[in-house]
Amino acid sequence: MDSVQKTDQFIFQTYQRQGKALVKGEGVFLWDEDGKKYTDFLAGIAVCGLGHCHPKITEAICRQASTLVHVSNLFFTLPQAELASRLCEKSFADRVFFANSGAEANEAAIKLARRYFQKKGEKNRFRIITMLQSFHGRTMATLTATGQDKVKDGFYPLLEGFSHVSFNDLKALEDQLDDTVCAVMLEPVQGEGGIVPAHAGYLKAVRELCTKKGILLIFDEIQCGMGRCGKLFAHQLYDIVPDIMTLAKALGNGLPIGAMLATREAATGFDVGSHATTFGGTPLATAAALEVINIIGTESFLDEVRQKGRYFKEKLVELKEKHSRIVAVRGEGLLIGLEIDKDAAFFVGKLMEKGFIINGIQDKVLRFAPPLIVEKTDIDRLVTALDSLF
Ligand SMILES: Cc1ncc(COP(=O)(O)O)c(C=O)c1O
Repeated sequence: MDSVQKTDQFIFQTYQRQGKALVKGEGVFLWDEDGKKYTDFLAGIAVCGLGHCHPKITEAICRQASTLVHVSNLFFTLPQAELASRLCEKSFADRVFFANSGAEANEAAIKLARRYFQKKGEKNRFRIITMLQSFHGRTMATLTATGQDKVKDGFYPLLEGFSHVSFNDLKALEDQLDDTVCAVMLEPVQGEGGIVPAHAGYLKAVRELCTKKGILLIFDEIQCGMGRCGKLFAHQLYDIVPDIMTLAKALGNGLPIGAMLATREAATGFDVGSHATTFGGTPLATAAALEVINIIGTESFLDEVRQKGRYFKEKLVELKEKHSRIVAVRGEGLLIGLEIDKDAAFFVGKLMEKGFIINGIQDKVLRFAPPLIVEKTDIDRLVTALDSLF
């Protein structure tokens, strides 16, 4: 049996997989077991921001793997402390809770928001408002928070106290914000929902509303954060700050790590014993993430992401002018969606045949989330291949 047959026989059939087993990666390139080379425009779903097997990340992992891998959160560890202080120094936050995935980081944010008010005696303030078409994860709380029915199918009853409103619709949100609401949670740029950025005026107004009504604002930057949108954190494009932010995906460049960051005030919701995880913030994962933030967090790196993102978008807009089947080009930095009037799966398959990896979301949107180290020549090659498919 080969790896495809073994996967089909022994692994839960919860994923639709593509092509052959991938066996090697370097920079923006991947190779399958037949030796075929691909240019990666997906980066493990916006995870490998620095590309595959970046020498500095590999070096950090190897160094840490031969020093200390895991001891639990009953002890202090050096890379975890360093990473937390670096994240706070680079953001609005004062405290960090480390988790293992995006869903877990969001789960922590939801728990923090509820406990913050319950600790103050506001027991009825437990509702969380999220956006239609949002995606926040697959645990019970985060799939309840997610504004898409397809992730909820078969899992009822869901958790109490979650409502969804249309994204970028201030009035719809305002109508929900009574004194039972503890938090508003949203992605500054929706990822799985079809690459939909928030309108700048909308986010500013949401921040003002939450402040006025004493409601916590949670930004899920699991997909759009860590340099993906051309700023270290996507909300920095909008010049406002949340009370709580979640990160995962690109934070570890492939090592599993999530983080929930909060202001000093919001962080008072958790006390010793309120929340915990065995693996959250292991020395191994945090050593890798520290190296990631040291590289991605520099202004020169982020400036290049913005330039390459603009270039990529311009090329796609040119394609749109040429092909009427392209409906829209959306996104920020190197998180770009191309909406088409036909099934995205056709383009995903054809591009893979031509040696490019992308994926389709919401049936008709092609998602481009290449490693942030992608070069303009890689973008040109992808756009030429795409052009030939219309
Ligand atoms: C915005 C957002 N939040 C949360 C998640 C869940 O993260 P994970 O798959 O690591 O649990 C994702 C994953 O795609 C995401 O895009």
